[in-house]
Amino acid sequence: MSIKYFDEFKSFYLHTPNTSYVFHINDGGFLIHDYYGKKIPECDMRFYSARPGRSSFSPRSADGTTTPDSAPMEYSVNGTGDYRASALQIREFRGNASTDIRFDSYKIYAGKPELKGQPATYGTEEETTTLEIVAKDAVTNAEVTLYYTVFENYDAIARRVKVTNASEHGMDLERVYSSCTELPKGNWDICHLYGMWGRERKFERNHIPRGITAIESKRGASGHHHNPFIAIVDGSTTEEIGDAYGFSFIYSGNFSAQTEIDTDGDVRVIVGINPTDFGWHLDPGESFETPEAVSVYSAEGLGGMSRIFHKLYRNNLCRDPWKNAKRPLLINNWEGTYFNFDEEKIFNIAKEAGELGVEMLVLDDGWFGSRNGDNSGLGDWFVNEEKIKGGMKLLSERIHGLGMKFGLWFEPEMINPISNLYDAHPDWCLHVEGRPMCKGRNQYVLDLSRKDVQDYLFDCMDKILKDAQIEYIKWDFNRNITEAASALLSADKQKEIFHRYVLGLYALCERLLEAHPDLLMEGCSGGGGRFDPAMLYYFPQYWTSDDTDAIERLDIQYGTSMVYPTTAISSHVSVCPNHQTERISPMQTRGDVALAGTFGYELDVTKMSDEDKEAVKAQIAEYHKYYDVIHFGDLYRLIPPNGEECAWCYVSEDKSEALLTFVCIRCHPQFRRCVKFRGLDENKLYKDDEGNVRPGSVWMNAGINRTNGMKDFTSFKVHLTEVK
Ligand code: GLA
Repeated sequence: MSIKYFDEFKSFYLHTPNTSYVFHINDGGFLIHDYYGKKIPECDMRFYSARPGRSSFSPRSADGTTTPDSAPMEYSVNGTGDYRASALQIREFRGNASTDIRFDSYKIYAGKPELKGQPATYGTEEETTTLEIVAKDAVTNAEVTLYYTVFENYDAIARRVKVTNASEHGMDLERVYSSCTELPKGNWDICHLYGMWGRERKFERNHIPRGITAIESKRGASGHHHNPFIAIVDGSTTEEIGDAYGFSFIYSGNFSAQTEIDTDGDVRVIVGINPTDFGWHLDPGESFETPEAVSVYSAEGLGGMSRIFHKLYRNNLCRDPWKNAKRPLLINNWEGTYFNFDEEKIFNIAKEAGELGVEMLVLDDGWFGSRNGDNSGLGDWFVNEEKIKGGMKLLSERIHGLGMKFGLWFEPEMINPISNLYDAHPDWCLHVEGRPMCKGRNQYVLDLSRKDVQDYLFDCMDKILKDAQIEYIKWDFNRNITEAASALLSADKQKEIFHRYVLGLYALCERLLEAHPDLLMEGCSGGGGRFDPAMLYYFPQYWTSDDTDAIERLDIQYGTSMVYPTTAISSHVSVCPNHQTERISPMQTRGDVALAGTFGYELDVTKMSDEDKEAVKAQIAEYHKYYDVIHFGDLYRLIPPNGEECAWCYVSEDKSEALLTFVCIRCHPQFRRCVKFRGLDENKLYKDDEGNVRPGSVWMNAGINRTNGMKDFTSFKVHLTEVK
């Protein structure tokens, strides 16, 4: 068992292959955190959580055992002496919000319990061990269950919380975070991913100041602007060396990841649903289950942390049948045609693309209702037979006749005020009676907390999926939520709407996959606006950004790779000048950058030159040749995109193959390009495609030395295979 309880020290020890997480029950029954980091043996670690007593301004607990304001609390609560960020705040029936939970019981068992109705990591009894701790508030009779699951193969701990109202009165949850982690004083930096439309998941690293630092969303979605992820790293940590703690939240709605550094320099990290605009009422006997948060520790820097997330999320979050299956190489017509197409144009794109080796045609926005622009039609999921003559069934059959698969775009959660659906059901969107509604891209958001709305969407989508031959859908979400209120919820439950929306979304996705188990779903939200781990549970790949410019994508894909596996990063070659930036970059670079993801095309192939078509054929051959090393290999970020250059490499798990990609962002006269491989076996011999044979130690310590100058935006790859 990798989780143990030692009664002698009243301590719990959670071990993964290379990490340990330790906490104890003190004399007052408080759960006190001791240690999280590199693996240690099971000794008495209680000394490590000792903190000096403070003044009367940090009160002692009533039983005199604890100073909650300075002790590292395993799960911090509100209103009983801990003035730092609290993970839990419950307003009891008498109106006060003071909570005090003490240890009651624990269970340790093989396996991982299911989190009903919400996405979460999973694992067999061989792969996982779980600890459940119950702590109780003797006054309010709130029962708090803390779940910890460790993975046998990964240095990751999955955490979540359940709160049960075991009293005879109602109670209201005002904050209920999924995890609370205490780290000792040090020289800590915070890393996070920020952005906006077209510029998602830019990496930023800052020294953590005293007080609270919050990375959050209250958009109703995880959003473009912040990703539900932070890493806390030592000031000296690099890409490959040093302490890196990653915190990732498996949730698609309003999230909060906060650090609080107190006066002494100790750090608290809490991750969970954003308490702003959140509340949940519990009647006697009812429970609330939080989404899951995942913590990862690596002594091998940010790169080590990312590689753990990649494997965990690819193997134990994404689901079969697609998690490790080779994805169809697709062409999407969006940038090729926008709304201006008919069935013949789409068929011709498919035909030409198929001849070059593309395996699936994805028909994007504009095939339904009155959708000839972005101001009408959303909600009317019926084929527009003026554009798709003969219907979707016929078009899908014709495309299958070419030996290709067929995919279709939907934006189920939205409604245009100009639509039949809005005429029939104006109350089906989120709205506040009497308040004019904000529009985003001319659309409103449907109230997914409603079962009738979910049923309507399921029925429309199910019908199209049954009628035509469709192997894939792209599920879009092109605005964030405003006027968050539901026509069906009572006034005291309106505060639950944001979370109920997300649960409704999960329910709809699950139902669709149950009815169509082989369907491949790609997520999208104006590009990567909801690219979060929860979405990966339903959508094993996600459209990373509407910005398809290869040079822009270097930053976007670099940041995305902090947490998300290559198999999830949807990346396509598009035309030049690029539609978002007007930049012109060589076809080879566009291909090399798109190869660092699911790979595909986003253009009208019928308008391509013969030269470009030959380039497409060559790219597709490379896609197949390098598929395994790219998608299942370990990623090493060699040079971050720094305005001059960028490089990364993949190394297969058995270290027999590697692929390095280098992109020149800005050229200089007479400039050499040097870059060292990482992750190879020092003692193996590797040969590149030009026939150079060198030991792994030479490829890693000396690397490559390109003396021929490179022009702006050009790229090259070096492919190594082991020589036996
Ligand atoms: C969003 C997506 C695009 C495309 C359009 C269609 O912006 O990110 O890829 O599907 O919607 O309207």
